[in-house]
Amino acid sequence: MDNNNVEKQYNSMSHFYNVLYSGCDMKEYENTFINEYEDLLNSLPVNGKVLDSSCGNGIQATALKRNGINVIGTDISEEMINLTQQYSKDNNLLFPTKQLSWQQLPNNFGDDFDIVFCCGNSICHSIDKEDMLNNIKSLYRVTKNGGKIVIDTRNWDKVIKENIRFTTSDVKKYIDKKYVFTYIWNLNSFDERSNVEILFIEITNDKETKCIPFKLDFTPFKHDEFISRLRDCGLKTVKDNFQLNNDMYSIILEK
Ligand SMILES: C[S@@+](CC[C@H](N)C(=O)[O-])C[C@H]1O[C@@H](n2cnc3c(N)ncnc32)[C@H](O)[C@@H]1O
Repeated sequence: MDNNNVEKQYNSMSHFYNVLYSGCDMKEYENTFINEYEDLLNSLPVNGKVLDSSCGNGIQATALKRNGINVIGTDISEEMINLTQQYSKDNNLLFPTKQLSWQQLPNNFGDDFDIVFCCGNSICHSIDKEDMLNNIKSLYRVTKNGGKIVIDTRNWDKVIKENIRFTTSDVKKYIDKKYVFTYIWNLNSFDERSNVEILFIEITNDKETKCIPFKLDFTPFKHDEFISRLRDCGLKTVKDNFQLNNDMYSIILEK
């Protein structure tokens, strides 16, 4: 696969990825996602095809399937694909999945998709600016003419401006254990490889605690730069809800 640590990083963290979501009402999360893109999803033609290109734990792809949409889930990480399969199976909502990086998409699909999602702050895992451009071009190539690409991302302008060093969760329960997790941000400037360490404190009983560390690499980017990068790939911005003070923003693009 691509020369990218991220595949290994997500493979090793996959079990703990679900800990990050513990305590969330998954159905509510699914509904929020569907409501956010309601108009776009309503415009899908009959038998329209949708790709979730970084399906992770499967929350967005499963929400789409639950709403009767013909969806395929892909992800660079085999273990994250396993999470998608588990979540969709637990919900009796099966759909096809395949372990594929963004770069590999054009070798596996034609310009087949009416909508391509790249959700949950995934595109920042591109290795650098050039890799991000190539990844967006891959998403472009598997989108139909006139089709849409949806990218949502953490607001790196805000993160870098505030220079937040760490954030810590409340106590979370996942299966039979309790956890507290801390994100430690090792941020470089825009377009420079950075990482976040995620430390899980696992509390098994009153006497025993374990610290389990993971690291995820990413490349933060400036909103305005990102928009011009998307334009350079031939994409037209249809919707962009970026605001400097919001933690996340979402962009809908047309091919
Ligand atoms: C932050 S998670 C988001 C997962 C899910 N969409 C969510 O919202 O929880 C980022 C996902 O992007 C995937 N990913 C990272 N780099 C990728 C690449 N080059 N191609 C495809 N998927 C990639 C990771 O394996 C991971 O599942």
